[in-house]
Amino acid sequence: MLLHGNMISNPARTHLTLKTSHTHHRNLTIFAQQPITTATCSISDEDLLSRGFNLHRSISHLNLDHLNSVFVAVGFPKRDTTKIRVALEHTDSLLWIEYEKTSRPVAFARATGDGVFNAIIWDVVVDPSFQGIGLGKAVMERLVNELLEKGITNIALYSEPRVLGFYRPLGFVADPDGIRGMVYTRKQKKKK
Ligand SMILES: CC(C)(COP(=O)(O)OP(=O)(O)OC[C@H]1O[C@@H](n2cnc3c(N)ncnc32)[C@H](O)[C@@H]1OP(=O)(O)O)[C@@H](O)C(=O)NCCC(=O)NCCS
Repeated sequence: MLLHGNMISNPARTHLTLKTSHTHHRNLTIFAQQPITTATCSISDEDLLSRGFNLHRSISHLNLDHLNSVFVAVGFPKRDTTKIRVALEHTDSLLWIEYEKTSRPVAFARATGDGVFNAIIWDVVVDPSFQGIGLGKAVMERLVNELLEKGITNIALYSEPRVLGFYRPLGFVADPDGIRGMVYTRKQKKKK
């Protein structure tokens, strides 16, 4: 599923309006429009730290094999780690959370884009052993806030249908103003 959104910001206020659309490769489209705040997160960096979670915004200490293991653990296809490195080097904003006890990544999200108008969020994952304790929300809130602070007003992402309920409270809706996302699919050649 592809989600993407438009955000209208008022520089005089800390509250911004986020509009998001979401379209899926299984023909599911979702958009969102909701006010969000740039300044607040449901859990502070200090609270994360006190619970043994370190927040990172670069790949310098990120073990990509460990990250790949998290992707695989949540059901994403295993990808070539060298290609993941290239993808992350071409990523504008990323966040990951390290569990201090194991020094391993347990939550991750990233966004690519043009740096001014548009961004697409990719690879939002939380290690299954750490799901349900607020880490997914923690990375998403910070990533969206970072994009808003850069003035980026159109944000998109893909979502599995089962995760729509996770994205909606974060400001994402389906089909705002009837806008639908579309995904290019290569035509299969007929077998002879
Ligand atoms: C989706 C995912 C990133 C959520 O991360 P998480 O750390 O488990 O979620 P959080 O604990 O931060 O949950 C935040 C809120 O979203 C809700 N939520 C989490 N997953 C949800 C889901 N699948 N459907 C509906 N609500 C969900 C939680 O109940 C919580 O609600 P609350 O704020 O009212 O308490 C994680 O489950 C995951 O990695 N899933 C597998 C990979 C995946 O599907 N990624 C998204 C690709 S589109």
